[in-house]
Amino acid sequence: MKLTMWKRITNKVNEHAHMSQVGRGSERVQATAEIFTPTDLVIEMLNRIDISRLSAGKTVLDPACGDGQFLTAIKWVKVYIHKMSESDALKDLYGVDIMRDNVDVCKKRLGGGTIVMGDSLNPDKKLDGQTDAEYDMVNSMLSGRPSIEQFFDR
Ligand SMILES: C[S@@+](CC[C@H](N)C(=O)[O-])C[C@H]1O[C@@H](n2cnc3c(N)ncnc32)[C@H](O)[C@@H]1O
Repeated sequence: MKLTMWKRITNKVNEHAHMSQVGRGSERVQATAEIFTPTDLVIEMLNRIDISRLSAGKTVLDPACGDGQFLTAIKWVKVYIHKMSESDALKDLYGVDIMRDNVDVCKKRLGGGTIVMGDSLNPDKKLDGQTDAEYDMVNSMLSGRPSIEQFFDR
């Protein structure tokens, strides 16, 4: 039973071909470390944690989410294993990436979630192309300000 679940989760992640949709030259990859985790490794890592840590209401933040390899798998863990609706699962998922195109692909893959552009290492730094709302959100998420609740409607 569990095996079938993991197979289904793997298939969902693999609906998006690994590292596809965005052209990433070697200079860019050198600067951003955009080497995304292969699906089999994502699944193996999730298999090694206590899966109840991803149950309903347990939030997950990937501060360098790329195109969402982990967040996509976690979304489907929540749906297939914890029997959450897709929309509820998405309420638990947060991602930050420094590259706008990764943010866009990640959000599209997930079909929602709170995925924003930002510099997780320097959350106070306003990036070119980052919206004010994203800036505030990244600051709240990663600088530990108490105002975080106001953004997440929880
Ligand atoms: C090694 S990839 C990991 C992506 C994803 N978590 C995975 O495992 O497939 C690192 C990601 O971090 C992003 N990144 C690099 N520096 C960052 C920073 N200072 N703040 C946020 N994201 C950053 C890159 O654009 C890239 O998508």
